[in-house]
Order: sequence, then structure tokens, then C-alpha cells
Amino acid sequence: MAWASGAVRRSSIITVIFLLTLTGVSSAKLSTSFYSKSCPGVYDAVKLVMKAAIAKEKRMGASILRLFFHDCFVQGCDASLLLDDTPSFKGEKTAAPNNGSVRGFEVIDAIKSAVDKVCPGVVSCADILAIAARDGVVILGGPNWDVKVGRRDSTTASFNGANNNIPPPTSGLANLTSLFAAQGLSQKDMVALSGAHTIGLARCTTFRAHIYNDTDIDAAFAWTRQCDCPRKSGSGDNNLAPLDLLTPTIFGNDYYQNLVWKKGLLHSDQELFNGGATDAQVLWYVISQSSFFADFVTGMIKMGDITPLTGSSGQIRKNCRQVNN
Ligand code: HEM
Ligand SMILES: *[C@@H]1O[C@H](CO)[C@@H](O)[C@H](O)[C@H]1NC(C)=O
Ligand SMILES: *[C@@H]1O[C@H](CO)[C@@H](O)[C@H](O)[C@H]1NC(C)=O
Ligand SMILES: *[C@@H]1O[C@H](CO)[C@@H](O)[C@H](O)[C@H]1NC(C)=O
Repeated sequence: MAWASGAVRRSSIITVIFLLTLTGVSSAKLSTSFYSKSCPGVYDAVKLVMKAAIAKEKRMGASILRLFFHDCFVQGCDASLLLDDTPSFKGEKTAAPNNGSVRGFEVIDAIKSAVDKVCPGVVSCADILAIAARDGVVILGGPNWDVKVGRRDSTTASFNGANNNIPPPTSGLANLTSLFAAQGLSQKDMVALSGAHTIGLARCTTFRAHIYNDTDIDAAFAWTRQCDCPRKSGSGDNNLAPLDLLTPTIFGNDYYQNLVWKKGLLHSDQELFNGGATDAQVLWYVISQSSFFADFVTGMIKMGDITPLTGSSGQIRKNCRQVNN
């Protein structure tokens, strides 16, 4: 009798643990169908606002894509980057990789209100960012893919995480590789995701040392960039240059072509084609845009999977810039 009740207790404990494990596993997973019943209109709503924003300014597709990257590398894709600083809250926006550099938050706000008109309080800011980043890529001529969703929004942010996890443009190949590895992304993913620099602009301060001091750069290209980026720090710091000099508003493989000609804008860009282990992958993407596209999509899906908040963790923010009261 005692034995029997012990066995029953033991088996019910095992059942509870099993169920907990099951729900734990299933709630930790994103899926492409998460909103198919609760908000099927989210995709059209996001796309409409992204189309309008990019029609107004082509660069916005790039700016939103970068927001997604900088969000995901700091405590996962949880919209932590979107939180504004307040007197009692220090967010990520003024961390070194972001300060005076990240942009597009007004577009995210506009998407949030458009989505909340279709289905109020259902879609997270983290998912909005993931879908908007994809749409920007597609609208500028890049590959399409189904975005995994079901993320929830953080109630915290990490200033130090933003400073420590996001690679600076002075990074060498080993540091780039290890910072991506720390997020569960391979060196191959890193090279493919860097192809995001096929669109968008960079400030003089981020490439000044490369165009004046590095030797792994085409001389004529360096000279051209020097015309609008003075040597002296503090002057022209915010002057902009395209990351891809060939087709800065088209999402394609020209970024890799630039690297082969030693015309990478950032030191970190040129590190991908500099006699090291990633040269072959760069050459392959020059030859095969479809391989670049396929690997970029794989990388974006992996990056979007970085430690999301799911189930009942976190919250669905009402305003992407602040935690709900
Ligand atoms: C591999 C390491 C990377 C480094 C070192 C790096 C660094 C940078 C820097 C310094 C800028 C210019 C910022 C400024 O002017 O203030 C920039 C712009 C940009 N980055 Fe990266 N990045 C990296 C990877 C990525 C990834 C993985 C993505 C997205 C998948 C991405 C997307 C972009 C885009 C789209 C822009 C242009 C943004 C705009 O025009 O507003 N970058 N990056
Ligand atoms: C961010 O940039 C502003 C303007 O350049 C500067 O005043 C401020 O000190 C910077 N913040 C941090 C935390 O570096
Ligand atoms: C990254 O760069 C720093 C210096 O900028 C260096 O101290 C560190 O060892 C590097 N780490 C790796 C893994 O390359
Ligand atoms: C180039 O390198 C020298 C010597 O390390 C340094 O003093 C100078 O500030 C660098 N110039 C730029 C534009 O980075």
C-alpha cells in the first residue's frame, strides 16, 4: 500500500515535470503561424507603412534592418533597443554603437499604431521589428522569407550589453567571428549577414581610420572618401558615405564585389576579404547572388531566434518606447 501510493506520487510528479518541460519547450519556440488566427492582418499593415517610409526615403529600409540586428544582439530579439531613456531608466540608445547612429524609431511607432488598429494589443514590438526588417530587404530588391514570430517585449534593456555585444567597425576577423559566435551564429552566418551592408550609409567617424591609415584599401577609393571625411576627428564626423558604393539602395551582392576590389568602407567590411578564412565565401557570393540570398535568409532566421521572450514572459508593449505601467 505504502509502496503503491509512493509509486503513484512518483509517477504524477514525473507527469508534472514532463508537462512543464513540454510547455517550456513549446513556448520557447517561434513559428511563422503565430498570428494566423489572432492577427492575420499584421503583415499587410507592416508592409504598407514600410512601403510608404521607403518611398519617402530609400535609406529607411537599411535603418530598420540595422535596428533588428542591434536589438537581437542585446538580450535577444526583445525590442529592448526601442526603449527610450528616462531619468530613472538607462536604455540602449546612447550606448556607443547606437548613440547618434541608430534611426527609424518613428517608423516603428507608425507601424505599431497601424498594427494596433487592426488588432489592438496583440503584436509585440519585437515581432514588428522582425517583420519590418524583412519587408525593408524585400522592398529594396532582396530575398523574401517567412518570418518566425511569437516574441514578446522586454521590460529591461542593457546599456552594457549594447556596448559589449555589438561589434565595432574597428574589429578584426577574429573579433567579428567571436562576437557572432557568442550569439550562436557561425562565421559563415557572419559573412552572409554582413551583406546587409549592401544598403545604407555610414558616418565618417566610423570609417575615418580605415580610409586614412589602413593599407588594405584601394588608393583611389580612399582618396574619394577622404574628400568628404576630413582626417581631423571632430570635423565632418557625421558626413555620410554609402556602405556599398556601387548600388547603395539596391539589396544585391555588390557589397562583396567591392571587397574584392578593396573598396570596403569599414575596416570590418574589408576584414572579410583580406587573405583570411572567409575570402572564399566572399568570392562565392560575387559569383552567386542566389547563394548569398539563401545564406542571408538562413542568417536572419537564426539571428531572429536569439533568446526570444515567449509564452507569458515579458509583455506586449502598448508603446514601443516604454514599458507598460
Ligand atoms: C559584422 C559586424 C558589423 C559591423 C562591425 C557593423 C558596423 C556598422 C557601422 C559602423 C555602420 C554605420 C553606423 C554609423 O554610421 O553610425 C553600420 C551600418 C549598417 N549596418 Fe552594420 N555592422 C555589422 C553587421 C551588420 C549586420 C549583421 C546587419 C544586419 C543584418 C547590419 C546592418 C547595417 C545596415 C543596414 C547599416 C546602414 C544603416 C543606415 O543606413 O541607417 N550590419 N554597420
Ligand atoms: C551621446 O551623444 C551625445 C551627442 O553627441 C553626447 O552628448 C552624449 O554624451 C553621448 N552619450 C553617451 C552615453 O556617450
Ligand atoms: C578583440 O580585440 C581586442 C582588442 O581590440 C583584443 O584585446 C581581444 O583579444 C580580441 N579578441 C579576439 C577574440 O580576437
Ligand atoms: C592614424 O594612426 C596614427 C598612428 O597610430 C594616429 O595617431 C592617427 O590618429 C590615425 N589617424 C586616423 C584618421 O585614424
